[in-house]
Amino acid sequence: MTSSRLRVLIPQDEISRLLGRLAEEVSRDYRDSDPVVIGILKGAFIFMADLVRLLDFPVQVDFVRVASYGAGTRPGGQPRLTLRPHLPLAGRQVLVVEDIVDTGHTTAAVLRYLERQRPASLRLCALLSKPSRRETPVVINYLGTNIPDLFVVGYGLDAAERHRNLPYIAVLGNE
Ligand code: PRP
Repeated sequence: MTSSRLRVLIPQDEISRLLGRLAEEVSRDYRDSDPVVIGILKGAFIFMADLVRLLDFPVQVDFVRVASYGAGTRPGGQPRLTLRPHLPLAGRQVLVVEDIVDTGHTTAAVLRYLERQRPASLRLCALLSKPSRRETPVVINYLGTNIPDLFVVGYGLDAAERHRNLPYIAVLGNE
């Protein structure tokens, strides 16, 4: 697990630039609406922390967690929420924050669950998307950037729970 296996894909200054643009877009749409920002654990924890600190108006934050594929996947193949938001969401402006949309299964399951809580609005902000991997259609209202189908780590994303703490996005291995 040495740094020589990591190739920087999105450096820190590029992440800052993407964050700045996303924060501007989110601010434009949510400044006067007292939104609830909901992060999908664990991967979104760094992106969400950085994003909300660029918003200069009050927001409430909450989290959901989705069981990883395999043991946590229902027989029908749908991911399962293992942590639900504590804040009441009915009638609220809800913004979901996700680090990466890959197949789309995770975000689609989260959005389906949140829709049932009857929010006034429900949108998705994702730092990264791999469109070539999509299996479930997901509308990303605020997108940092598309990336190719590479195994990426850092800035919240992990490989076997490691590398989440990298301040940049890197490709792991020989890709
Ligand atoms: C990763 C990532 C997204 C999800 C995207 O989470 O953080 O939540 O996969 O994949 P999908 O679009 O194919 O569903 P993971 O399940 O690895 O859990 P983690 O966030 O705790 O790392």
